[in-house]
Amino acid sequence: MLRSIEPLVAGLARQHEAKAEEWWPSAELPRAYLPEDAGRLAEMQRRSKGIPPAVRACLALNIVTEEGLPLFHQALTNMLPAASAFLSWAHRWTAEEDRHGHVMRDYASLTGIVDEIALDRMQFAFLRNGWDDGWDGDPFRVFVYTSLQERATQIAHQQTAAIAGQYEPVLGGFLKTVARDEARHYAFYRAVFAGVLDADVDDALESAAAIMPLMAMPGGSMPQYRDLAETASRAGIYTLRHYHDLVQELIRFWAIGNRTPSTDRGRAARDRIMGIPARLTKIADRMEAARTARAFQFEVAFGHEFTL
Ligand SMILES: [Fe+2]
Ligand SMILES: [Fe+2]
Repeated sequence: MLRSIEPLVAGLARQHEAKAEEWWPSAELPRAYLPEDAGRLAEMQRRSKGIPPAVRACLALNIVTEEGLPLFHQALTNMLPAASAFLSWAHRWTAEEDRHGHVMRDYASLTGIVDEIALDRMQFAFLRNGWDDGWDGDPFRVFVYTSLQERATQIAHQQTAAIAGQYEPVLGGFLKTVARDEARHYAFYRAVFAGVLDADVDDALESAAAIMPLMAMPGGSMPQYRDLAETASRAGIYTLRHYHDLVQELIRFWAIGNRTPSTDRGRAARDRIMGIPARLTKIADRMEAARTARAFQFEVAFGHEFTL
């Protein structure tokens, strides 16, 4: 089946390459060894001091997630056919994703806005623990998961850019560039999955129904992941409402409601997917109603306590 949609994938990859931005992490930042960059560097360091601890914690979460790339590269290439347009895409994608962790890490080094040793420890633990992708050997799930995940990371980078950019514009600037990469990845993966739905609607709907109810962001094995994710939610960087909106957007883009599976299991999967947005709204309403301010503290944000 994947071989049958290979021409579609090759075409989407060509479209992607035509739209892709050529940008380099090292060119986004002042270089500490260049005398002509010294003023920019000092200004960036000065302004970054104002970035609040909650935003620093979210940035650390985003860095460690991006730096999980070896896990994601392996998961993706394991699932895709050898010597194919899929694999060629996976390499292009990896090269682009590698820029994300790179630029954010370098920024952290130049500014010292996070505790770098704590960050190293988190990254080591995350990579060391591995990642259970939840795809269960099903390649269709890969394209559902990646569609959701790319859009989720786009939102997280965009929101961090909007908040952090008020304090320090260099950070806000390159996070927007990163978010645009994620937006193009999202466009690619969701178009691939639309092709999967066209080719094998019953199985595709079942795969989507397995992932969409609540996509688990990678990172669950990271130390303090729950509190970091809760911080991102309370800071408005990535919330369940965002997830609701992106699920709804994909239901519309994939025209799930208009798909006509030929089996009961396909129809059941379609109906399950159609019920997800209402269920997410209910959960978010309940969570927000029960929420009271609480204190957070992260070693990676220098142990400064903050309340959200
Ligand atoms: Fe990324
Ligand atoms: Fe991406």
